[in-house]
Amino acid sequence: MIRLGVNVDHVATLRQARRGAYPDPVEAARLAEQAGAEAITVHLREDRRHIQDEDLFRLRDSIGIHLNQEMAPLEAMVEIAMQVRPHEVCMVPERRAELTTEGGLDAAGLGARLSAPIARLKDAGIVVSLFVDPEPRQLAAAADLGADFVELHTGAYANLADSDLMESEQSQAGALGASALKELEAIRNAVSRARALGLRCNAGHGLNYRNVGPIAAVGGIEWLHIGHSIIARAVMVGMSQAVREMKALIDGADLSIARRL
Ligand code: PXP
Repeated sequence: MIRLGVNVDHVATLRQARRGAYPDPVEAARLAEQAGAEAITVHLREDRRHIQDEDLFRLRDSIGIHLNQEMAPLEAMVEIAMQVRPHEVCMVPERRAELTTEGGLDAAGLGARLSAPIARLKDAGIVVSLFVDPEPRQLAAAADLGADFVELHTGAYANLADSDLMESEQSQAGALGASALKELEAIRNAVSRARALGLRCNAGHGLNYRNVGPIAAVGGIEWLHIGHSIIARAVMVGMSQAVREMKALIDGADLSIARRL
């Protein structure tokens, strides 16, 4: 069975908008766990725009499921991961100006620069995954570098699939156009190639309620890591209750307080 890792970064994005204490990504992670998520994924970015260092430690101590820390392959990040000891580290490329991770890690280009961080994390018993585009040379590099997993970047598929599926109101592979099918095929081929190289496979980025089906049907993927669409959906399915609770507080306000002012 394919397993779900819920990325709670955007709960922290909402909290950081006011630099306050809520909404708490750790509380969201606990709710995700109760709802059946098998992992919590967070990206500790260099600019700390959403998840903070303290969140990682709190997550580690609060959840009973797999913790997957996404991070750039930088010495300072490896140091933090060595303290947190997540079950898994997923190395991602990072550019300060980007809205979200754009493109996979250039494992082939970075080559030896990834060897030491990968070895250090693996020696500490942390599973190492590299977030890569579904390209043969990236998979070969990930295998050469001794990564345990590759997480295949589904962003190109997701963008194309979204425009096809938006029009058809369906979420099946049959509604996909030629370009999205080509990307889906690239993911499927990458899974086969990666497994033949001895790598295990995850996938993620841009997956949502419309486009996830065809990816979940590709055999050989162990985990899907999904964030933005789940947090966006949670806002919508939670809105009615949130408004009802606020109305009840306003309507039930203790008027004697005003009389005492
Ligand atoms: N996987 C990786 C490696 C990512 O960097 C991200 C975004 O942080 C995700 C999955 C989740 O992407 P999304 O928020 O688009 O579902």
